[in-house]
Amino acid sequence: MGWSEWARPVEVEPSIYAADFSRLGEQLGALVAAGARVFHFDAGDGHFIPEITIGPVVAASVAPLVHGFGAALDCHLMVSEPERHFDAFARVGADHVTFHVEACDDPPRAIGVARALGLGAGVVFNPGTSVDDAVAAAEDADLVLCMAIEPGYSGQRFLPETLERIRRLRSLLPPTVRVQVDGGVNAGTIVAAHEAGADLLVAGSAIFWRDDPVSAYEELAGLVREAARA
Ligand code: DX5
Ligand code: ZN
Repeated sequence: MGWSEWARPVEVEPSIYAADFSRLGEQLGALVAAGARVFHFDAGDGHFIPEITIGPVVAASVAPLVHGFGAALDCHLMVSEPERHFDAFARVGADHVTFHVEACDDPPRAIGVARALGLGAGVVFNPGTSVDDAVAAAEDADLVLCMAIEPGYSGQRFLPETLERIRRLRSLLPPTVRVQVDGGVNAGTIVAAHEAGADLLVAGSAIFWRDDPVSAYEELAGLVREAARA
C-alpha cells in the first residue's frame, strides 16, 4: 500500500497532535465520516525539537482505530536519529514515516530502511533549510514535506515565504513525488498553499481547536476542492 492507494489527489490531513486526547476515537470517527482519509501524527523527542509530543505508545492505540475507519496514519518524526524509531512505528501499524533532513546524515539510506519495514517514506525540511537541499535528499521519497512553521507545536502562524518555497519545490520534484505542507494551514492559507503546489495539506488547530472540528474539516476540504476545480 502507498499514497496512490490511500490518498486522493488532494488531501486535508487532520493533525492528531492538536486533538482532544480524551475524545480521540470519537473525533477521528467523525472526521472520517466527513471524508478524512489520512491522519497526521507528530512524534517529537524533546531533542530535535524542544517539545515532547506523542510517540509509538499512542500510535499503537491510534493506528487500529484509523485503519478500522479505512484511513491511513502518516507519522511526522521530529526526532534525532529518526532511523532508530522506524521499527517501533512499523510495529504499531504506522503506514508512512516522514523524517527531517536536518536530523539524518543519509536520507536515501533511511528511506531504504523504512521501505524494508513496509513503511512509506518521505523527507521534511524546516524553514531554515534550503529547498535545494531538501530536493537533493528526496531521492526515492514518496513525498517532501515543507514546514511552514518551526516544528514543535500547533497553533503557529503560516510563514508567508513558504509559498515561494513550495513553488520551487514543486518545480524541482518529479510529478510522482507529492508535496505536503504543515503548519499554520487554515481557511486563510490553504488555497494559496495548494495553488503553490502542495496537495497534502496538514491542519491541526484549524480543525481540532475549533468548536466543531467536523465543519472545520469540511470547510478546508471544500476550499481546496473548489480551488482544484478552478
Ligand atoms: C507542529 C506539527 C504540526 C502541528 C500543526 O510541529 O508538525 O503537524 O500539529 O498544527 P497547526 O496546523 O495548528 O499549525
Ligand atoms: Zn507535523
